[in-house]
Amino acid sequence: MKPGMIILKTKKEIEIMREANRIVAQILERIGEAVGPGITTGELDAIAEKMIRKAKARAAFKGYQMRNQTPYPACVCSSVNDEVVHGIPGPRVLNEGDIVSIDVGVVHKGFVGDAARTYPVATISEQAVKLLNVTRESLHKGIEQAVPGNRLHDISAAVQKHVESHGFSVVRDFVGHGIGRNMHEPPQIPNYTGVGWNPRLKTGMVLALEPMVNEGTWRIKLLDDEWTAVTADGKLSAHFEHSIAVTDNGPLILSEP
Ligand code: MF3
Ligand code: CO
Repeated sequence: MKPGMIILKTKKEIEIMREANRIVAQILERIGEAVGPGITTGELDAIAEKMIRKAKARAAFKGYQMRNQTPYPACVCSSVNDEVVHGIPGPRVLNEGDIVSIDVGVVHKGFVGDAARTYPVATISEQAVKLLNVTRESLHKGIEQAVPGNRLHDISAAVQKHVESHGFSVVRDFVGHGIGRNMHEPPQIPNYTGVGWNPRLKTGMVLALEPMVNEGTWRIKLLDDEWTAVTADGKLSAHFEHSIAVTDNGPLILSEP
């Protein structure tokens, strides 16, 4: 026991985190309307940047450094097709049939909001539709388990079971996380079971659940930009994330508009 203290949030703090995540959710809605053939990932980032400024919030990802990596240069991560997470927005043009995962984080009144969705670009293959549906559903299966008295791995197991029962795989190299005044707080939340700390869930925990689901192998590679993770086999990957609070009345999704 005890690979890190989980910082419980008060009702008041959860309300502020709801505001932070509402800004995130509104950005994701707006980006969803903009996604289509011909737009660049850099243009999607610019939409987020403007909305963050207008909300008087701060971009949580910009300047973020994980190890001794180059600081992350943008407001959103945009990961296309075989890109799993942390794709850097730029001149890449989206085409019909692509899928694009957008991950956004903002800091508002000292608290971080964090969420992600994968969007279809116009009409996509049946297999891609299935991947998006299964990934979104797996997130919600995980959220259902986020109740006081359950253990963390009840979330992990629910996600993994749903994903694997549909023939897809969960990424191992990235995990969900506690969230609060810092974007990454204990506990780490793997989307598969059998590893790491398995604390009991308590009212006041705020968690960012974020299954990353691959069509083929769960193995990934890191590109030379030090950020972009891609599937090892070049097949598709999807990512859905919500920040949620564990409450006496069940899970409360903070990152909904
Ligand atoms: N949702 C991702 C995470 O929790 C986004 C981080 S992007 C980064 O790690 F640039 F800030 F690292
Ligand atoms: Co996150």
